[in-house]
Amino acid sequence: MSLHKELQELQGLAKKEIVQVTSLDELDKIRILYLGRKGKLTSLMKALSTLPPAERPQAGKIANKVRQDLEQRIIQKKEALQGEALKLILEEGTVDITLPGKLPRRGGKHLISQIIEEIVDIFLYLGYEVAEGPEIELDYYNFEALNIPPDHPARSLMDTFYVLRSGEEKTPRDLGTSEEVLLRTHTSPVQVRVMEKTKPPIYVIAPGKAYRHDVADPTHSPMFHQVEGLVVDKGITFGDLKGTLETFIHEVFGKERKVRLRPHYFPFTEPSAEVDVSCGVCYGEGCRSCGGKGWLEIIGAGLVDPNVLEVVGYDPEEVTGFAFGMGIERIAMLKYDIIDIRTFFENDLRFLKQF
Ligand code: DAH
Repeated sequence: MSLHKELQELQGLAKKEIVQVTSLDELDKIRILYLGRKGKLTSLMKALSTLPPAERPQAGKIANKVRQDLEQRIIQKKEALQGEALKLILEEGTVDITLPGKLPRRGGKHLISQIIEEIVDIFLYLGYEVAEGPEIELDYYNFEALNIPPDHPARSLMDTFYVLRSGEEKTPRDLGTSEEVLLRTHTSPVQVRVMEKTKPPIYVIAPGKAYRHDVADPTHSPMFHQVEGLVVDKGITFGDLKGTLETFIHEVFGKERKVRLRPHYFPFTEPSAEVDVSCGVCYGEGCRSCGGKGWLEIIGAGLVDPNVLEVVGYDPEEVTGFAFGMGIERIAMLKYDIIDIRTFFENDLRFLKQF
C-alpha cells in the first residue's frame, strides 16, 4: 500500500475514534496511540525517509496535514468533553430554589404571660383599666394600709422577704413598722396606691409578681403572679362582685362551670369570701382532681373594708367597693392540668412549647 493511502486510512480511523470517545482519559490514550513519540502517525512519518527523494516533499506535506488535522480534532474534542464535565458539575451544584426552606424556630409567649393577657383582656372589655405598683414595697402599702397592723396574725401567714439596708441587722420580730421595705407578698398594695392618687369611680386590674418566703414544692414558689381587682364607686354591692366574678370565670373556664362563694376572712375586706369554680373533671361530683370536694378555690374577694377606704381619705358612707385577688399560676394549672408550679420557672422548652 502506498504511504499516501496508509496515511489516509490512519486519518480515517483516528477521526472515527476521536468522534466516539466519551472521556478525557480515553481521548489522551488515542492521542498517544496516533501522535505520541511511538505513535502510529509518528512511525509512518519516520518511514518517509525510505521514499525516493523526489516523493518525500509531497508525502511529507500530506503527513503534516494529517497530523495537524488530528491535533486540531483532539483539541476540539477535549474542549467539548471539558465543557460537558463542567456543565455536569454546575448542574449538580445548583441550588434548587423550589425546595422548602428550613423554618427558623419561633419564640412564643410564656404561658403565664398568655394567661395574664387573657385575664386583662376580659376586664378591659368590662371597662377596667390596668394599674401597676412596685414589687419592692413599703410595709405601709403591703400591710398597714390594708388593715393589717404590726401584730396582726395575717402577717405570719405571709412569710415576707424583708429588704434590709446594708449594715442593717434585724430579726423579723423587730420588723413591722410602716417604713420597712419588703418584697410585696401580694398585689393588694396596688389597691392602696391607686386609691391614694385617684378619686372614685375606680375600676382597675393590677397584674404582677408577688414573693413569699416559701420553699418551692409542687404548689409553692417563692415568686409567683397575681392579678388584683378593685372597684370603688357609689352603691357597689356584694351582688356586683358576684356578677363580675361569675362573668370572669365563665369567660376563662367556660359557661358550663358553676361558681360559688364561701364566707372567709381577709383583713382588707368585709365581708370576705373565697370563690370556687366547679371541678372541670367531675363537674361537682367529687373526684381525685378536686380532692373529693367537687370545687376548686381560685379567688379571694370581698367588699373593701371601711377602714381601708378611710385610710386613703374616702368616705365609706359615700362610696363602697369590692376587691379580689387570684394566683395566675393556680389558674393556669387548673386550666391546663399542670401538676407542678415549678415547671413554669424551669424554662424547659418541651413544657413551654405546648402552650
Ligand atoms: N391578697 C390576697 C392573697 O394574696 C388575695 C385577696 C383576697 C385579694 C381578697 C383581694 C381580696 O383583693 O379582696 O391571698
